[in-house]
Amino acid sequence: MKTRLSKRLNALFDAVPPGYDSVWDLCCDHGRLGMAILETARAPAVIFVDQIQDITRELEERLQRYGAEGYQVLCQDASHLNLPKQGRHLLVLAGVGDEVTLNIMAGLLAQGANTARFDWLISPANNLFQVREQLQQWPLSVQAEGFVMDKQRGYEWLLLQHGEAPPCPVSNPAPFWDASQPEHRQHLQKLLRHARKQSKNPQQRDQAEREIHALQGLLEKKRGIQ
Ligand SMILES: C[S@@+](CC[C@H](N)C(=O)[O-])C[C@H]1O[C@@H](n2cnc3c(N)ncnc32)[C@H](O)[C@@H]1O
Repeated sequence: MKTRLSKRLNALFDAVPPGYDSVWDLCCDHGRLGMAILETARAPAVIFVDQIQDITRELEERLQRYGAEGYQVLCQDASHLNLPKQGRHLLVLAGVGDEVTLNIMAGLLAQGANTARFDWLISPANNLFQVREQLQQWPLSVQAEGFVMDKQRGYEWLLLQHGEAPPCPVSNPAPFWDASQPEHRQHLQKLLRHARKQSKNPQQRDQAEREIHALQGLLEKKRGIQ
């Protein structure tokens, strides 16, 4: 693979299962993840989407210079995409905040029955507790999930399948936390500090208190206070 990936993007790359007709790199910016998928033929087609024209123009030029094949570059708001009606596709949405993530997912999930089968690989930049609360309201089943630390920052990711009566619903917080692992513990403590700050804002208090309760439970487990 020519494209160099950060530890975070490499974890996402490894989480992309083979067998999709296309992979959509939503909010692609530099498009590194999609480029790595193209180069390794992990999927026969990659659709890059970003709403900033300078970004898509530059990416298009780079892909042409590399002689890449099997791609499209779209300059538009990802929440209003026209999704294919047939086939099996993966929507990758990483590196954007909780609100953008949920807006884009809501917009595309609303197309529901009119489209082909879409799975999601998401890795929101922040507020995973809030994201997971919303994900639990949608018919999504967890295929895989994980956590990666990159340059002192932690990122959760989820591979989700869309469908009624999800056999493996989204849990909140994630099931993989193990506070005896230093990286997990460090990340959970950071989340707890952030949730405590959020709880001072009356509009965020209820949700922040739910998060504080959950995080304290995870951190106390380490000390055996079950
Ligand atoms: C920080 S970059 C993330 C790049 C890459 N996905 C990653 O994980 O490294 C965020 C990009 O999302 C794009 N973006 C934000 N909201 C968008 C939307 N609604 N539709 C399409 N692109 C969007 C921005 O233009 C920006 O290029």
